[in-house]
Amino acid sequence: MTVTVPAHPEPVLRVSRLSKTYATRVVDSVDWQLAPGRVHALLGGNGSGKSTLLKMLAGVVPADPGGRIEAAGHRLASEHWTPQVAAGTLRFVHQDLALVDGLSIADNFGLARRYPRSRWGRIDGAGLARHVAAQLGRHGLDLDPQRPVASLRPTDRALVAIARALDGIGDDATTLVLDEPTASLPVDEVAHLFASIRTLRENGHSVVFVSHRLSEVAEIADDVTILRDGVVVGSGPIGQFPEERVVELIAGHPRATVAARSRPAAADDAPVVLDVRGVSAGPLRGVDVRVRRGEVLGVAGLMGSGRSSLLRALFGDLGDGVSARIDGHEVEIRTTGDAVAAGIALVPEDRARDGAYLDRPLWENLSAAVLSRYRRRGRLATPAERADAADAMRTFGVRAPSVDAPLGALSGGNQQKVVVARWLRAGPRVLLLDEPSQGVDAVARDEIHTLVRDAARAGAAVVVVSSDLDELEALSDRVIVLLAGRVARELSGPDVDRNVIIAAMHAPGVDP
Ligand SMILES: Nc1ncnc2c1ncn2[C@@H]1O[C@H](COP(=O)(O)OP(=O)(O)OP(=O)(O)O)[C@@H](O)[C@H]1O
Ligand SMILES: [Mg+2]
Repeated sequence: MTVTVPAHPEPVLRVSRLSKTYATRVVDSVDWQLAPGRVHALLGGNGSGKSTLLKMLAGVVPADPGGRIEAAGHRLASEHWTPQVAAGTLRFVHQDLALVDGLSIADNFGLARRYPRSRWGRIDGAGLARHVAAQLGRHGLDLDPQRPVASLRPTDRALVAIARALDGIGDDATTLVLDEPTASLPVDEVAHLFASIRTLRENGHSVVFVSHRLSEVAEIADDVTILRDGVVVGSGPIGQFPEERVVELIAGHPRATVAARSRPAAADDAPVVLDVRGVSAGPLRGVDVRVRRGEVLGVAGLMGSGRSSLLRALFGDLGDGVSARIDGHEVEIRTTGDAVAAGIALVPEDRARDGAYLDRPLWENLSAAVLSRYRRRGRLATPAERADAADAMRTFGVRAPSVDAPLGALSGGNQQKVVVARWLRAGPRVLLLDEPSQGVDAVARDEIHTLVRDAARAGAAVVVVSSDLDELEALSDRVIVLLAGRVARELSGPDVDRNVIIAAMHAPGVDP
């Protein structure tokens, strides 16, 4: 049933003077409201307080006293807002997805709602599995409900978390809150998700959407609110907030012009740094990769086309190894140790699992010595290491209280900068980047792009996988498009364009 929306509807959620103080105040006296049947984008730089604000609304982070939250007929002092009250009208997909890795997909659904019981009060496992399979199917997911969540790819994890949040949404107006749901989603999946969001909106539900991809925000949002340092610095209908204005509000100053991408013409006669033929590990079926000195090669493709596998194979982390020529020298890359020794660096896609030590201090995560697998853990930093780390924090614009803070205490975008910074500090010959600006704000993204291009200009060969086509367009001199493990197209010059890339991802082998 469709809920009719009156001309001046009561907001579905209203907060006033909402604040949160950790060591410092990270959300500062926020007044905010959500209209029913609208998609509301919550924007702001890394660490600006978006996730903290949303966690207070979920009741999982206690707010400072003095504020008020009103929703679903409840009107409470902010410090008395609980998960139980919030659950009456709000559904959340938090940034970390809150899935339990050790459990199956079905059990993760079971935890969130009540397990269906048989007549005898036992948990009805088969009933739950059928129900979950149907819910997954609604979102185009063909996954066995018994599969452990730990075995899912990042994209599927995100989609499972979203399907779980939407499980059982009925006719009562509900607000779905999505904290960076698209950070790890390729274009096609984003299109699916946006279709679901539009359906919810048509049915009178509201959606709060956090994203750093501003072109997506322009596509889906009706209203926007922008936070900077925990303070609302702009709020209103999306029409009043063109991208340049949004970036200015996020940054607090006009957008710096990003250096144009290095002209491919300059790279044409440059020596080849990386030359690998016929990579056939995992899903790949004979992929050739040649990258010249100073060149950035973009890799595009749909989910499952083999993009991440290609990087992992080049890094000695998949299959039986590859024979490569690096700066003209034959090298056998059978292990990640071989790759590191050959001057290859990989910034992996799944930061939380492969790229970072969340419980270890920043200095250790930033330390170039971490690149060695033989590094001892748990010892104290040398003064030089700490000074280097502080220096790297400045160079790479990492926002954190100190070099001793555990990486896990940083905002998502700042964690990503640390992982990228660590590898760039090693000065690699070949830099492999998998979704380098996933979860990174527009300002930091520009900064990371500048760092990557600087690495290329300093002579490295760079290979970038990204499902953010604006990023591929901005960064790449040349793009290869993978389809089912093969190179379907190679694009250069004016063809390095998001629309040409999208077309090539779907239409194999139609070179103009
Ligand atoms: N549990 C915590 N203890 C101490 N400080 C915290 C904690 N959680 C968050 N912070 C700090 O609060 C600030 C806001 O963080 P928050 O995660 O809300 O930012 P965000 O806007 O969601 O950023 P991102 O875009 O990177 O996800 C940051 O400076 C962060 O380091
Ligand atoms: Mg966040």
